[in-house]
Amino acid sequence: MRLDKILADSGFGTRSEVRKLISRGNAVVNGKVVRDASCKLGPEDELTCFGKPVEIHEGKSFYYLLLDKPDEVLTAMEDSRLPNVGDLIEDRYKNRGVSPVGRLDYHTTGLLILTNDGELSHRLTSPSYGISKTYLVRFSGDPLTDEEIAKAGSGITLTDTDVPVRLKPCEIVREAEDQARVILTEGKTHEVRRIMAHFGKEVISLRRIGIASLFLSEKSAPGDLRELTSEETELLKKAVWLS
Ligand code: URA
Repeated sequence: MRLDKILADSGFGTRSEVRKLISRGNAVVNGKVVRDASCKLGPEDELTCFGKPVEIHEGKSFYYLLLDKPDEVLTAMEDSRLPNVGDLIEDRYKNRGVSPVGRLDYHTTGLLILTNDGELSHRLTSPSYGISKTYLVRFSGDPLTDEEIAKAGSGITLTDTDVPVRLKPCEIVREAEDQARVILTEGKTHEVRRIMAHFGKEVISLRRIGIASLFLSEKSAPGDLRELTSEETELLKKAVWLS
């Protein structure tokens, strides 16, 4: 298998990104720096990238996992202090370069995809693909008014930082006096919490329940982990023009 394909399949980036990192001398094969992306490797070769060992498999190369992220878990594969998503993933996936697609806050629970398919990961998070992310938010404060929902629907400007941030329109559906479904198509930092704060509400709990047409089952519980079915993977790929 070609060096650039192995590294792209192992989650080091898209083909063009891994070609750059190879030409910069970050891939080492059997102890020697290799700058030729087309170099052919077999299972007997030893490969490291940025000093990390990379397994060379002939078989299945991409993994797609669905984690119901628990509260108080960092969206990172490792951390020296805090519980993190990497603690919940088996080594056989970690060794294949699986990492989270986008990020959920420490206190946000719910649907997190992990994969070593760099291109899918990039497209699901890039604002240019406009993939919808659906959240259930419980909040304190007055119930959301029709006017607030309409304002969010035409795009609000957040003024909680030095530079005002114009948000894309988002859909808010009232679920109860203290609960709403929020559907975003971009991924600004703490976006749901900031939208709620803009309307004078404090978030009590936030749970992501959907990405594109993929939704958590009602029975899903924080900590649950499984591979996506091939149908679910296909739907995600179709949503970002990859199949
Ligand atoms: N919006 C937030 O505020 N937090 C998340 O974790 C995701 C979206």
